[in-house]
Amino acid sequence: YQHIKPFPNDFLWGGSTSAYQVEGAWNEDGKGLSVIDMCDHPAGTADFTVASDHYHRFREDVKLFAELGLKAYRFSIAWTRILPSGVGTINEKGLDFYHQLIDELLLHGIEPIVTMYHFDLPYELEKTGGWNNRGTIDAFVEYGRILFEHYGHKVKYWLTINEQNTMILHPGAIGTPKGGRLPSGKELYQQNHHMFVAQGRTMRLFHDMLPHGKVGPALNMTSMYQATSRPADAIAAHNWETIRGWGFLDLSVWGRYNPLFWSYLHERGIEPVIEQGDMEDIQSGRPDLVAINYYSTATIAASIGDASDVTARAGDQQIMLGEQGVYRAAENPYTEKTKYGWVIDPVGLRLTLRKVCERYGLPILITENGIGAPDVLEADHTINDTYRINFIAKHLEQIRFALTDGVDVIGYCPWSVIDVVSTHQGYGKRYGMIYVNRGEQDLKDLKRLKKKSFSWYQEVIRKNGRDI
Ligand code: BG6
Repeated sequence: YQHIKPFPNDFLWGGSTSAYQVEGAWNEDGKGLSVIDMCDHPAGTADFTVASDHYHRFREDVKLFAELGLKAYRFSIAWTRILPSGVGTINEKGLDFYHQLIDELLLHGIEPIVTMYHFDLPYELEKTGGWNNRGTIDAFVEYGRILFEHYGHKVKYWLTINEQNTMILHPGAIGTPKGGRLPSGKELYQQNHHMFVAQGRTMRLFHDMLPHGKVGPALNMTSMYQATSRPADAIAAHNWETIRGWGFLDLSVWGRYNPLFWSYLHERGIEPVIEQGDMEDIQSGRPDLVAINYYSTATIAASIGDASDVTARAGDQQIMLGEQGVYRAAENPYTEKTKYGWVIDPVGLRLTLRKVCERYGLPILITENGIGAPDVLEADHTINDTYRINFIAKHLEQIRFALTDGVDVIGYCPWSVIDVVSTHQGYGKRYGMIYVNRGEQDLKDLKRLKKKSFSWYQEVIRKNGRDI
């Protein structure tokens, strides 16, 4: 390109968090228990009960977000603060907390972007079958109605379910309630189907109630490369892309089961039961935007057919597992990895944006992207996270290319604006631009400190990304 497009003037320069990872106050002011509160957390990592104590320090945090120059803040509402049992009586104190948070953001000119549900299903609903139970569909729609009624006049951007594909493809990644068991494949895809019905009905209701608002799904989108030019690798890679990505997004946007995805389910006898009216409900949702969480790319090879498909490692850790008879993970010699074995691939973001744009033609909001690292607090109280600056700068550069390609990217919310508890590695693995001074078990003073990336991102926003 001779002329690289600038970031649009109304680009949503943001930052991201989720309720259970940032708030703490897990059982305060009437909040009910969620499946996360009931998880067996890996030994040695932090629990979620205090997290970053944002529940008590949100005013101080929003002030820092404002100083950073954020135009948007993407956070999630804890369902169990609003409805402690998932259904029934509203908890006024929970409702009030998010009123205060949203008001504080608006006061500082920061656009709130709300995720309705980020992994933390109310435990009371889980006890009656969770997403296996069709009652959970009604519960979610009613929860949505309450949110739209109370916050709809203040919040324009809404996301339904965070990373539904992660929840289905890696059910263990979210955490199993103590004493619980992982659902079978059949159950998982039935749950998946119910979530789509819930999402469709909720988005339809949203459009009825808030015709000027914007709503969409937030899926984890990861592009793939085929390991070689061997045709069998190409088929395996295509399988992978559909089973883990398009299958989910096609349902969200087009309201239909992707034929390849459906064959995969049918072949294994794990296809969901579809009741009358379900597909109409799913289809009626019609999102206004697609939100994507992007971290890395995968490299995929043809299956060998035996159990080694599953155990073949890509990366130092088993981030990406294969599936016997379908595909296996391969190494990419052209990309680097984070300390946790996640492939770093900024160009893959451009590729993903192009594909999502070409397929759906909707505006795209990047709701997560970032690098997890064991940040070090130096003796002089600085945190020199140059690797984070490099990571984000390179991804922003690719977003500019994607904009020039013609993709309508409306915002970028890196994960995370402030340190949060990681889903698996506690506070050892940090993502924020604002440091939270605590250890895994030792809460220290929970003081907020600006990392090197803070002033860097501040400058990027101030210049609307002109130097990227
Ligand atoms: C995303 C989730 O999948 O990845 C976040 O939406 C999560 O909740 C993020 O924190 C990073 O993953 P992790 O495991 O490093 O915390």
